[in-house]
Amino acid sequence: MSGLRVPVVEVRLDRRSWRDHLAGLTAAGLRDDPPWIPPVWFYDRYGSELFERITRLAEYYPTRCERSILAAHAGRIAEVTGAETLVELGSGTSEKTTLLLDALAERGTLRQVVPFDVSEEVLRAAADELAARYPDALVHAVAGDYHEHLDRLPATGSCLLAFLGSTIGNLTPTERSGFLDAVTGVLGHEDWFLLGTDLVKDPERLVAAYDDPGGVTAEFNLNALRVLQRELGADLEPADWQHRAVYDESEERIEMHLVATGATHIRIGHLGVDRTLRAGAWIRTEISTKFRTDALHAELEAAGLGVVGSWTDEAGDFLLTLAQPRGTSAS
Ligand code: SAH
Ligand code: TRP
Repeated sequence: MSGLRVPVVEVRLDRRSWRDHLAGLTAAGLRDDPPWIPPVWFYDRYGSELFERITRLAEYYPTRCERSILAAHAGRIAEVTGAETLVELGSGTSEKTTLLLDALAERGTLRQVVPFDVSEEVLRAAADELAARYPDALVHAVAGDYHEHLDRLPATGSCLLAFLGSTIGNLTPTERSGFLDAVTGVLGHEDWFLLGTDLVKDPERLVAAYDDPGGVTAEFNLNALRVLQRELGADLEPADWQHRAVYDESEERIEMHLVATGATHIRIGHLGVDRTLRAGAWIRTEISTKFRTDALHAELEAAGLGVVGSWTDEAGDFLLTLAQPRGTSAS
């Protein structure tokens, strides 16, 4: 037995330039009509805790569905991929991921685990837990933004790149196709991509999953405003805003809004943001796209990722897809 190896934590986020980048995005979003803010603001320490609570809500089915798919098929995925490195983007607590890691460890191929997340605190905690659970593997965590830092991912041998939780649904269609192209760009022909996506279903169930009666999701959404106050010195009144989740049937996506309950303002002097908003005005804080299997697989193929297998849970609520860079044969 090797002793407990201390995880490596590589910080790719240069604090100052990343903050400038986010500040610029946020200012552009707040000047837009309707205004929007980048979702990355959700995941400070408190926001990450709230997300954890969301994943345990009765109404929030995606986590449970994805876990059941992983429980049923992780062995097969380990067998097909024989991956030595598992990289997980937007890894959070990496809780479900242990199902994959256990399967790879059992098969004897696992050598390196790379949790990758923008939220450094959650990442460090997850890295410690992974190191304790997989003493024979190297844990190399990366604190980064998956829109910016997909290059230079650490990997030993063949790599399985996982993107779970339907986080891909939080990207706009343009961001999504750019992201998939970037994924194809970083994967070699011996590597694999594993993608979790929520599927189109009854709008009532969808809305309930993003607007629970206990108000945990509301608290999560409103937390973004407090992060703006703290991180950008925004002058705004969180009490003037209310959570709302709507399903856009034509786009097949949930939109998370913050709706002004009365006249209010948002000012960020140093960014040139100065908005007065009427009652009923709203800010879009997040989208959560719902997918159809065929269209999703066509998107993957268009990005150069050949679908090797895909699985749903028993009810057909959630989809897990395994793909591999296509084209020239492995050589
Ligand atoms: N994979 C977990 C967590 C999903 S929540 C699950 O399936 O339950 C989304 C995660 O992505 C959060 O941990 C958040 O911190 C992270 N995240 C959000 N935007 C990101 C970005 N731009 N780059 C990297 N990680 C990001
Ligand atoms: N990836 C998750 C999803 O789209 C993120 C999420 C869950 C979320 N609940 C939320 C984002 C509420 C914003 C608000 O399902």
